[in-house]
Amino acid sequence: MKNKFYITTPIYYVNAKPHIGHAYTTIAADVLARFQKLQGKEVFFLTGTDEHGLKIQKKAAEAGMAPQQFVDGISEEFKRLWEGLDIGYSSFIRTTDEDHVETVKKVLQALYDRKAVKKGLYSGLYCVGCELFKSNNELVDGKCPDHDSAPEQMTEECWVLKMTERQKELVGKITSDEIKIRPQKYKKEILSFLENRLDDVSISRKNVSWGIPLPFDPGQTSYVWIDAFLNYLTGLGWNGDLDDIPDEWPADVQLMGKDIIRVHATIWLVMLMHLDMELPKEIFVHGHILSGGKKMSKTLGNAIAIEEMIGKFGTDGTRYLLLSAGPFGEDVDVTMERLVEKYNADLANGLGNLVSRVVKLSENLDILKTMDRQLESVEKENIRVFMDNLNFDAALIEIMGRIYKANKYITDKEPWKIAKENQAEFLAVMTISKIDLWEIAYLLEPFMPETSEKIKKALETKQAEILFPRIK
Ligand code: MSP
Repeated sequence: MKNKFYITTPIYYVNAKPHIGHAYTTIAADVLARFQKLQGKEVFFLTGTDEHGLKIQKKAAEAGMAPQQFVDGISEEFKRLWEGLDIGYSSFIRTTDEDHVETVKKVLQALYDRKAVKKGLYSGLYCVGCELFKSNNELVDGKCPDHDSAPEQMTEECWVLKMTERQKELVGKITSDEIKIRPQKYKKEILSFLENRLDDVSISRKNVSWGIPLPFDPGQTSYVWIDAFLNYLTGLGWNGDLDDIPDEWPADVQLMGKDIIRVHATIWLVMLMHLDMELPKEIFVHGHILSGGKKMSKTLGNAIAIEEMIGKFGTDGTRYLLLSAGPFGEDVDVTMERLVEKYNADLANGLGNLVSRVVKLSENLDILKTMDRQLESVEKENIRVFMDNLNFDAALIEIMGRIYKANKYITDKEPWKIAKENQAEFLAVMTISKIDLWEIAYLLEPFMPETSEKIKKALETKQAEILFPRIK
């Protein structure tokens, strides 16, 4: 399919409510999807929830609920949050969807038929939080650093996916950028990890009932990651027929946080190789959101709830603040204090002020009530380059620069004074300011869709509401 753009987010575990980290990836995906659509691409944007596995089985039991009932509730919360953040996904996949489950079974059978799996024994330290086996060098003081808890010793008979025999081929594909891993440092990290022997990995569980049974060994259920990876294909409506792969595949970009790049760059890719399927064109890895230099956690009391952000800053305010918090590939640090400061500076004083000044000053003028989007500007060109590199914060800095210039122009020209002295000059100044604002509205579209609409409306109707009230 020509001119298509397929973008995915990871699917989120439904063991707990959605948080700011989930919102971060999903907003980024939404912005990129909207941007590509505006470039004329046919976009498919997939997100969803990862609902099987031991972690969720345990959580549901703790809550005294049947797993299905438990996951239904939390999956719904994700959907509600995406609505609140104006996330325009094309499809929302749940791994408990019947079609997904059926396709996973078919793929497992295909892997078995192709002799990509064999019986094995897995013995190791398992972190339920990560749903991953851990090696000793990944632990800090015997604990998983991401979950601050000691993994459990597990020995299981299971089925394993043959990884070692495909290792060389995998390294070749990553090295040659047949599958691009960006930013570059993550490609390096994966390649250096792959200098060591890649062991075969377990793809099934004996004692986890909350999972998809293996068609060739129904006493075992599919390892949650295997089930989860396939969402990227089942989410396109794929029924598992290897001769009939959806046109959208391969993905143009798969977004994910740095904590899950390794599983993707190994198990997911090798699985596709065993199936003789194309690999995604690109994996783009982003950093984590920290607060006060530390991972957000309830115990530390530094967690910022995503609902609190939306309540305070609004939908677009939240989208803006998260993506402008720092470079997408790096860890970024946010504190409520700094968010409020940035909101007031960039949105209340910067953008909000510009909109109300331009609309107010030109309310009696009959100029530029419409303007088409075919504007070309330095900013637009620069933003294209930034977006090719998923450099969201640089793109937003570019737009803020344009807003600053437009505001400064008005401040310098003092049109409210000119209006009394020289109508022609007043008209000229307001024409320039209105063009500025039209253009800013277009530049903002993928990032702040609702705000962009409101600005266009205000320019048409010559009436502006306060877009971003100042926060004390
Ligand atoms: N279910 C798996 C993914 C399966 S994809 C086939 C999973 N889920 S998760 O809910 O734990 O995390 C999903 C994504 O959220 C990951 O990309 C992770 O990096 C991201 N984030 C979780 N916490 C985060 C922050 N504090 N900051 C930014 N993103 C983080 O892993």
